[in-house]
Amino acid sequence: MSLGIQLKNVTKKIGSNTIIDQLSLDIHKGEVVGLLGPNGAGKTTTIRMMVGLMKMTSGDILIDGLSVSEKRSATAQKLGAIVENPDFYSYMSGLDNLRYFAKLQDKKIGRQTIDEVVSIVGLTESIKKKVKTYSLGMKQRLGLAQSLLHRPKVLILDEPTNGLDPAGIREFREYIRRLAGEQNMTIVVSSHLLSEIELMCDRVAIIQNGRLVRTETIKETSDQENLVKPSSQVVMELADSSKAEQILQEKLPTLETQSRGQRELLIQADKETTAKVIHLLAVQDHPIYRVRDSQQSLEDRFLEITDEKGEAYADAHSQ
Ligand SMILES: Nc1ncnc2c1ncn2[C@@H]1O[C@H](COP(=O)(O)OP(=O)(O)O)[C@@H](O)[C@H]1O
Ligand SMILES: [Mg+2]
Repeated sequence: MSLGIQLKNVTKKIGSNTIIDQLSLDIHKGEVVGLLGPNGAGKTTTIRMMVGLMKMTSGDILIDGLSVSEKRSATAQKLGAIVENPDFYSYMSGLDNLRYFAKLQDKKIGRQTIDEVVSIVGLTESIKKKVKTYSLGMKQRLGLAQSLLHRPKVLILDEPTNGLDPAGIREFREYIRRLAGEQNMTIVVSSHLLSEIELMCDRVAIIQNGRLVRTETIKETSDQENLVKPSSQVVMELADSSKAEQILQEKLPTLETQSRGQRELLIQADKETTAKVIHLLAVQDHPIYRVRDSQQSLEDRFLEITDEKGEAYADAHSQ
């Protein structure tokens, strides 16, 4: 069984509302998948069903091959989760909090296991300090340690980067990547911001209105790859795209161009050609506001999806 988590036609209805609609997704063992969607998309609902906090209306979820609906306690043993912000006793040390949570578990959890998870999340130095002295990032890592106490193979985290600053997000990302790599854990992380999770995930599943819109593999592009990258589509933001197109067609007749609206010109070019294009326009005093690679625009596509929703919402409410 190479699947860590399998969502099979998961549907959740509350009253006459369909909150999650026939959601299917296979997540491989050792894979880190981001559940990405705007607020209200259904991320928390999906996660609550995965961890057995909420029943589904139809469909099923398998954790390491076991059905959440049929084997709830067995699947609970296999997974660790942070669903709501974890609560700690702030006047107690991190260690005492973990000891307390360890006692609540069915399985006996020894000091050695506690030390191990503390070291995995990088809190060894400060674990004896009171939680009230911790930064938000440290509290988040303590939450992660708590969810790892029973050494689960599957980890499910609802918006774990919420409220963290960029340095905190980067740090958290490193611990997640390490868990996936060294412990071969299967990890699901939800977020409403692609930028916060894209670098920690192998794949993102975009959900909107309770439906899976698409999944995208995040490719690691090494610097080497970027250097030898053949031609790709480049988006140029300009003062006047048709005038710029004229200039370019005259000087570089083989260049493929396509204007999009008044201000955007798409060109098919490698790095050398892009440099030439910029030069040609600059010497003609044609203002260039921005140049970007349209291949790297999962963010754009995600924004398009969420914008469509925003517009649809605005339309519906402006009538
Ligand atoms: N207990 C509930 N009763 C009714 N509607 C709910 C309930 N929980 C969530 N919803 C609705 O389900 C949709 C998805 O919510 P949620 O899963 O919290 O989204 P997300 O976590 O992606 O922001 C929202 O429209 C929300 O209002
Ligand atoms: Mg949510």
